[in-house]
Amino acid sequence: MTTIEDTRFWHPFAPMGQVREAEMVLVRGEDVWVFDEDDNRYLDATASLWYANVGHGRKSIADAVGKQMAELEAYSTFGDFTNRPAEEISAKLAELAPVPDAKVFLTSGGGDSIDTAAKLARRYWHEVGQTSRHHLISRQHGYHGTHGFGTGLAGIPPNREGYGEVAADASVVAWDDPAALREEIERIGPDRVAAFFIEPVIGAGGVYPPPEGYVEEVAAICSEYGVLFVVDAVINAFGRLGTWFGIERWPEVVPDMITFAKGVTSGYLPLGGVVISGEIAAPFWEPGAPPFRHGATYGGHPTCCAAGIENLRILEEEGLLPRGEELEGPLYEQMLRAADSPNVAEVRGGLGFLAAVEIAGEILEADPGAPIKLGMAAREEGVLMRPLGRGVAVSPPLTATEEHLQMIGDAIEKSVATLG
Ligand SMILES: Cc1ncc(COP(=O)(O)O)c(C=O)c1O
Repeated sequence: MTTIEDTRFWHPFAPMGQVREAEMVLVRGEDVWVFDEDDNRYLDATASLWYANVGHGRKSIADAVGKQMAELEAYSTFGDFTNRPAEEISAKLAELAPVPDAKVFLTSGGGDSIDTAAKLARRYWHEVGQTSRHHLISRQHGYHGTHGFGTGLAGIPPNREGYGEVAADASVVAWDDPAALREEIERIGPDRVAAFFIEPVIGAGGVYPPPEGYVEEVAAICSEYGVLFVVDAVINAFGRLGTWFGIERWPEVVPDMITFAKGVTSGYLPLGGVVISGEIAAPFWEPGAPPFRHGATYGGHPTCCAAGIENLRILEEEGLLPRGEELEGPLYEQMLRAADSPNVAEVRGGLGFLAAVEIAGEILEADPGAPIKLGMAAREEGVLMRPLGRGVAVSPPLTATEEHLQMIGDAIEKSVATLG
């Protein structure tokens, strides 16, 4: 593995004291594979950071981006400015989303989208005269990015420690118990709660598929109390659960907002956004309504949107979307090969094309660095897995075949045996 002398690049979520001496330099990607500077090939079992849904090295996306760059690389969409790619992708996503009369607010990523949805939830209640509805509720293990509101909503304690109170009026409930949500709404006071944020299948917090009936029940509780139901589909969307936005797996649930990012471009360029129901948008869309005083420089960036449009075309025309559901069982089965190891506490997955192995408690207590070691052991087997708090996760590109899943199973089985 090549190393870079005296790196100045501070990696996100990285123990720089170790990483500064041992970075992994990637140079090339091809479908489910990535290559390092020595031309070693690795199976990208995580689709990078849960996003390379159509796989790497797609020339048609590069071409769409190059064409748009040459025509109009970027221009503000503040005020009345717009561009055709931003219009086209918004229209397409609004049509696809299971949200009535949807509008689409475009951002540069998932954290931006969470901040947008959190502010819009509060601002909506302000506009309709329920000015005390500020409180936001999220779930234990939930990850909603690292911006202000995302940090305040984090259900992963180390992600919020040491920053003071980043978002006031926010609380976290148990990830698996609808009664906990009801109790929290009652404790805060229903007239003070603005929104509930839910990743249907929790991703970065450790891959937790919801218990049977959970999603429907919490959606019903939200509508009973008038609390906005915000689906964080940053990982779950664009085929990861086999559908456009993931939440279609619970057909009776109608979200008020859906946040998205990652798979909307498969990461070829940064893009995210929020799908908003017509009812929530109405106070800002009516004649004479005030503007939503929110938005970032690159919202509606035409080149990022062009990448997204081509990515959505690929997902649709190559029939990749349903693969997230078709392959969820086979992936889970492969990961379950680690389940009998005494070094493993639990294997989670089976709903959506993502799964995780949690390391046994005694091993983690003795060595909190065990997840990184497990990831490194899998890398030795030629498979990239993502170390999380208590284990590793996988979420391959939707182009992965049974043969690739077999490689993942072989790698996890061998790697867990190296622990302890
Ligand atoms: C569910 C969820 N929400 C929000 C985010 C934040 O997205 P970003 O890293 O693009 O800001 C992530 C990132 O992994 C995520 O998984």
